[in-house]
Amino acid sequence: MTFEEARAQFPVFERFAYLNAGTNGPLARATVEAIVEWNRRDLEQGRGGKPYFEHVLALREGAREALAGVLEVPPQNVALVSSTTNACNVVLAGLDLTSEDEVVTTDIEHFGLLGPLLASPAKVRVAQVRDASPREAPRLVCEQVTSRTKLIAVSHVSWVTGNSLGPDELRGQTELPILLDGAQSAGACRTEAEAFDFYTVSGQKWLCGPDSTGALYVRDPERLRVALPTYMSQSAYNTENSFTPKPGAPRFDSVWYAPGTLAGLLAALEAAPEWRHERTREAASYCRGRLDEAGYEIVTAPDQAGLITFSPEGDAAEAAARLFKAGVVVRDVPGTNWLRASCGWWTSEDDIERLLGGLEPSDPVAGPGFR
Ligand SMILES: Cc1ncc(COP(=O)(O)O)c(C=O)c1O
Repeated sequence: MTFEEARAQFPVFERFAYLNAGTNGPLARATVEAIVEWNRRDLEQGRGGKPYFEHVLALREGAREALAGVLEVPPQNVALVSSTTNACNVVLAGLDLTSEDEVVTTDIEHFGLLGPLLASPAKVRVAQVRDASPREAPRLVCEQVTSRTKLIAVSHVSWVTGNSLGPDELRGQTELPILLDGAQSAGACRTEAEAFDFYTVSGQKWLCGPDSTGALYVRDPERLRVALPTYMSQSAYNTENSFTPKPGAPRFDSVWYAPGTLAGLLAALEAAPEWRHERTREAASYCRGRLDEAGYEIVTAPDQAGLITFSPEGDAAEAAARLFKAGVVVRDVPGTNWLRASCGWWTSEDDIERLLGGLEPSDPVAGPGFR
């Protein structure tokens, strides 16, 4: 697949310089057609009968395999969930932490991870990494570890700074269980999930899947309690006593996706070319370089994943709104005065130039020196 062919899958690019996969990736035509086709089938033929359920269950296993492919792990270690937030809740609930326990995280996490940590009875210790270089992050995280620490829970790539938290180095420095929030990495770069205890995927972001899709990698499913069971979690149950969890991570399946969602997710994953990670890196590097040349202060270090966070001139929320009107979709980062551009394998140099053009002050008196 050439770059032009890859890009032509996304009609939204005819209208927008769409730089927002960190929130929701662009939808490919085939993804939406698969959803529509299944919805029509459900409408006309109903949602019952053995062949229907067999077909949907086969789609589910296909989606599990495809998501396992993204994570480069066996499908039996992958649970189907609705989001990264859902996945983090499954892990935190299953660990049965107590008020004697501690979990370590950082100051640049999303509430999708932080919420489940804060809802657990464990004490949350926070490493201050926001203003540190990505290289220092693993050490700063490890400095928060005590004899009470039961879990380290950080993102692979921060949604705030766009920087990697250095999970490989972290893994090398501790044997404690690690939960990686992969919302900003899965689909943007290799996850290398197998080295970690838990790894989450958001389907709607860099994988360009339908809303409310995702995955959870669990390295050792037997060691995590099924605290939030669904009908899909059990292979047998006894009304008064107990249930037998399914083998492997499918016991943590948290959502019954509509078949259209499954077919759409499969189509989205098929739309991604082999060269996706290289091209994402190149696009992010081009974006970073152009913003740097234009004099903007860049938050994201070189060679991270697909996010580039930077300081615009003036108010970031106003800049995001102005850019949207100009056909450029980026977001401001809450609690900061930063803008965040998401560069994926589909991002063209022209998209980045449109971002640069939209950032230009409309007042002709204000030149580059005002940045
Ligand atoms: C790092 C990070 N974690 C978690 C989330 C929440 O993702 P989800 O909607 O899949 O729960 C986001 C969403 O932006 C995110 O950026």
